[in-house]
Amino acid sequence: MDMLQVEHLTKFYTGKVTHKALSDINLTIEKGEFVGIMGPSGSGKTTLLNMVSTIDTPTSGEIYINGKQPLRLKKSDLSIFRRRELGFVFQDFNLLDTLTIAENIVLPLTLDKKSIREMDQKLQEVAEKLGITEILKKRTYEVSGGQKQRAAIARAIIHSPSLLLADEPTGNLDSKSARTVMEMMESINQEDQTTTMLVTHDAQAASYCHRVVFIKDGQLVNQIYKGENRQTFFQEIIDMLSLLGGNAHELSSIRV
Ligand SMILES: Nc1ncnc2c1ncn2[C@@H]1O[C@H](COP(=O)(O)OP(=O)(O)O)[C@@H](O)[C@H]1O
Ligand SMILES: [Mg+2]
Repeated sequence: MDMLQVEHLTKFYTGKVTHKALSDINLTIEKGEFVGIMGPSGSGKTTLLNMVSTIDTPTSGEIYINGKQPLRLKKSDLSIFRRRELGFVFQDFNLLDTLTIAENIVLPLTLDKKSIREMDQKLQEVAEKLGITEILKKRTYEVSGGQKQRAAIARAIIHSPSLLLADEPTGNLDSKSARTVMEMMESINQEDQTTTMLVTHDAQAASYCHRVVFIKDGQLVNQIYKGENRQTFFQEIIDMLSLLGGNAHELSSIRV
């Protein structure tokens, strides 16, 4: 079954000048798949993610998520759809500093008026999965960047979303924390069959995916699948990036 289906997606940003950010994108992600989107800075990765996450609307094209068309929903239904079907992870964590880690994580459930008992059970479950049980009572400024991102992932999956969306989740992390975060995203995908779309220009992070789709100048240009070995896949990703122009070093070091 397809969890995400993007058909003929095109996005123009209009202003003083019109800029075509995405051009006729077709992309399908199956249930349980873990897909990376890579491309040079300005290639349209975030634009694509923003269309899929319903943050922004395309100029033309269709998006289906879990059989539904978010673009066709009324505003009130759209916010419920977003809360129930989607999970978001951002580069800068987006945690609320006035709340504890635990309060941040259960926030999506409080919005959906779940019982305290159910919330606590889910909280313990996801905290254990992300290895952050011992920091639940802390505030965001008392924990490391890696722990913040693990808390943000816990928040993103606590309601078992149909689709987990991540935009540069390792962008603000040192390489060791980045590896831990990717290992956890990988095990969440494997254990819970959480369908995941990861936007990154970190080849190491992308190597945890089943498949990496490459985007350039707003067009999908290629995709490669992981074989048995992650290290081999990492090298194949690096090679593809340099083939696409914009050198691999630039792609894996620039932060957007
Ligand atoms: N809100 C916007 N208004 C106008 N142009 C935009 C806007 N957002 C992005 N762009 C342009 O669209 C292109 C793709 O941007 P983006 O999706 O952010 O790329 P990426 O995430 O791959 O770096 C870039 O040329 C960028 O300058
Ligand atoms: Mg971006």
